Amino acid sequence: MAARKLLLLPGDGIGPEAMAEVKKLIAAMNAEFGSGFETEEGLVGGSAYDAHGKAISEQDMARAMAADAVLFGAVGGPKWAGVPYEVRPEAGLLRLRKDMELFANLRPAICYPALAESSSLKRELVEGLDVLIVRELTGGVYFGEPKEITDLGNGQKRAVDTQVYDTFEIERISGAAFELARTRRNKVCSMEKNNVMKSGVLWKEVVTAVHKAKYPDVELTHMLADAGGMQLVRQPKQFDVIVTDNLFGDLLSDVAAMLTGSLGMLPSASLGSPDPKTGTRKALYEPVHGSAPDIAGKGIANPIAMIASFAMCLRYSFNMIAEADRLEGAIAAILDDGYRTADIMSDGMKEIGTSAMGDAILEKFLTASK
Ligand code: IPM
Ligand code: MG
Repeated sequence: MAARKLLLLPGDGIGPEAMAEVKKLIAAMNAEFGSGFETEEGLVGGSAYDAHGKAISEQDMARAMAADAVLFGAVGGPKWAGVPYEVRPEAGLLRLRKDMELFANLRPAICYPALAESSSLKRELVEGLDVLIVRELTGGVYFGEPKEITDLGNGQKRAVDTQVYDTFEIERISGAAFELARTRRNKVCSMEKNNVMKSGVLWKEVVTAVHKAKYPDVELTHMLADAGGMQLVRQPKQFDVIVTDNLFGDLLSDVAAMLTGSLGMLPSASLGSPDPKTGTRKALYEPVHGSAPDIAGKGIANPIAMIASFAMCLRYSFNMIAEADRLEGAIAAILDDGYRTADIMSDGMKEIGTSAMGDAILEKFLTASK
């Protein structure tokens, strides 16, 4: 069996603590099942800036391009608030997304039954929630040019960001969304703002055409993105797959995340196109949460989103479906047993730290695998 090459980029804040729990899983899978993971570790974000003056070094970029998959922790923190814009911690993540052409960002928002009480919405609205946000990740206002602040010379400055989408970008992200919907409940809701944005007009037109040409069996609806945000908190279970652009996807996925009780729970996968020769695709897996500098180093961060991101990696990069199912099952089982990190703690539950949570999930996972 070929080795499975992983690049680990723990990053800043709670990133390294969360990644440590995934390292335990990788070591155990190699030892117990001969899974053949080979890992390298690199720096990204503020930690890379401190070491190299850049948010990711060329060497680590090359390693990311060569790996079968990248596992990414989190970047940023107040320590780097003053660094130049081009080398701010987030630039490392954006460079990885862009250079690896990871255009499809899958952000599942699943409400574990044991956590329905932690949601800010009523139990009946979120219990059993299973929404998949498919966010376009390499285009739109994140990367559009011009992107600048100019001095108008009259005491005024002007800031410009550019929202830009080409047909092929909308075609490939909507294709990904329709394909995924077919493996789920077969519904896609596309969100844009065609009432004020030309990019929204084209988005809706292209999604409609792709649907008609290739996926007429999938139910397609359209919503203006602001109304979509409202519907997500009003009646989230109406959605199956939501497909949307880079910026709306950023906002809507934070909203969806919070429906599930905690930002500390949600994984994500960022995927490229399959290579025409090998069928493999570049991929990066990361928790939706950030670096949480306020709790970094205290051993209390929730490692579940990072571990669930590794489960997505098993599923999408290595086709290890049984292992992914078991790992996700282990997370649900630990929550059912009443174990909680501080962010999801509630009355009568047992509060544990990052490492104990990782150990508990690992043990359940190994037991289920025997
Ligand atoms: C996310 C984050 C990033 C984004 C930041 C860290 C650049 O918020 O992955 O959702 O805006 O895409
Ligand atoms: Mg975000």
